[in-house]
Amino acid sequence: MSGSTHQDPTLGQSPAQAGGQRTARVLVVDDKEIVRTFLCEVLELAGHDVTVVESGEDAIDLCGKELVQVVVTDLRMEPMSGEELIRHLKRQAPATVPVVLTGYGSVERTVELMRLGAFDVLTKPCRATEILATIEKALAHHDALDANQDLRSRLEAQEGKRQQVQEKLAMIGKLAAGVAHELNNPLDATLRCVRMTKDRVGDDAEATEYLDIAHAGLLRMADIVQSLLTFSREAAVEQAPQRLDDLVAEAITGVALALGNEAPRMTQDIQPGVAGVPVPRGLHQVVTNLLRNAADAYDSPGKITVTGRIRGDRLLLAVTDEGSGIPEDVLPRVFEPFFTTKEPGKGTGLGLPISARLVEKFGGSMGIECPAEGGTIVTVSLPASRYGADTVQEVL
Ligand SMILES: Nc1ncnc2c1ncn2[C@@H]1O[C@H](COP(=O)(O)OP(=O)(O)OP(=O)(O)O)[C@@H](O)[C@H]1O
Ligand SMILES: [Mg+2]
Repeated sequence: MSGSTHQDPTLGQSPAQAGGQRTARVLVVDDKEIVRTFLCEVLELAGHDVTVVESGEDAIDLCGKELVQVVVTDLRMEPMSGEELIRHLKRQAPATVPVVLTGYGSVERTVELMRLGAFDVLTKPCRATEILATIEKALAHHDALDANQDLRSRLEAQEGKRQQVQEKLAMIGKLAAGVAHELNNPLDATLRCVRMTKDRVGDDAEATEYLDIAHAGLLRMADIVQSLLTFSREAAVEQAPQRLDDLVAEAITGVALALGNEAPRMTQDIQPGVAGVPVPRGLHQVVTNLLRNAADAYDSPGKITVTGRIRGDRLLLAVTDEGSGIPEDVLPRVFEPFFTTKEPGKGTGLGLPISARLVEKFGGSMGIECPAEGGTIVTVSLPASRYGADTVQEVL
């Protein structure tokens, strides 16, 4: 009987299989042979895969070696009681479902055993149909526990990865801050020297041209150093309040000026009640970064829209473009520091991570998605209540 599966010789399959029911791997634990034999016959006849043992110790031993879905156990056994066995199983094989079959049942006892981890408590004498129905429910419970455990281990693995990324970010941040600090002063001095030399070269067009190139290069370096400092949390973030619509308008003007003829058509569509919300000035850098990314997503100047909405307790600011979009394998990496798909000299890969860090400082979070119809939507979600949601609700 141990480990065997009974097949009805006339039908060629067990009643459980014939009825479309699933069969379970069941372990029967009882020190009385008559009970073991009865349970084994009933369960095997229903098509279940049954093993019987006489003691709790043997049961623990077997559950440690192979997967058992349901354990049907007696309570009064020596030296290990059924209660002890259930406790062990909860720790050692949490997805194994214990069912108690006892001659001494009472409501209080049942409640106590179920608290301990028993799935159900059956009282002897017990009808075969009742035992089989309980096994079926226990098997479904096992499946749910199993799925849960699987989900938990996947979540744990994800959390581990997230922590690794956080540690990596902290290290990069420290390193970047150190380098940026060291570069800041000599860079400043070099920039001043280039400016002074430019003032002195007078009409020498060629020298002026070289100095202009050097000046532009130094400005780009200063930009990168500033980005690194912001990224490493060294730079102060402007918390002073500014009206949301003014801030967006300023960012649009700034990007339009910087890009000149290459500038896309940038418009803002901010809900009237949200337009006047005072947001931290530091958000300017975030909007600028997002506008520049959106502009870069077009081969020729396209259309970019900045929208502002209130949804529940969130103030949502979104920058939408109809540009290239982001390939599926690239999308999960865009917030990684120094990740860029742009040519050297065109992007440092700090725009989005810096923006995300700034938004975090303002108590919010960022998201990015590429709709099926094309383009990209980057969303900044801020806690509306922190920025005068009450006022907003009134206006709306
Ligand atoms: N709106 C967008 N459309 C298409 N791709 C985008 C968009 N925004 C970001 N990306 C992708 O995400 C990458 C990372 O963006 P991020 O702003 O962090 O760095 P970058 O633009 O490459 O460089 P930097 O901003 O430092 O100059 C980009 O290189 C690009 O591949
Ligand atoms: Mg960028």
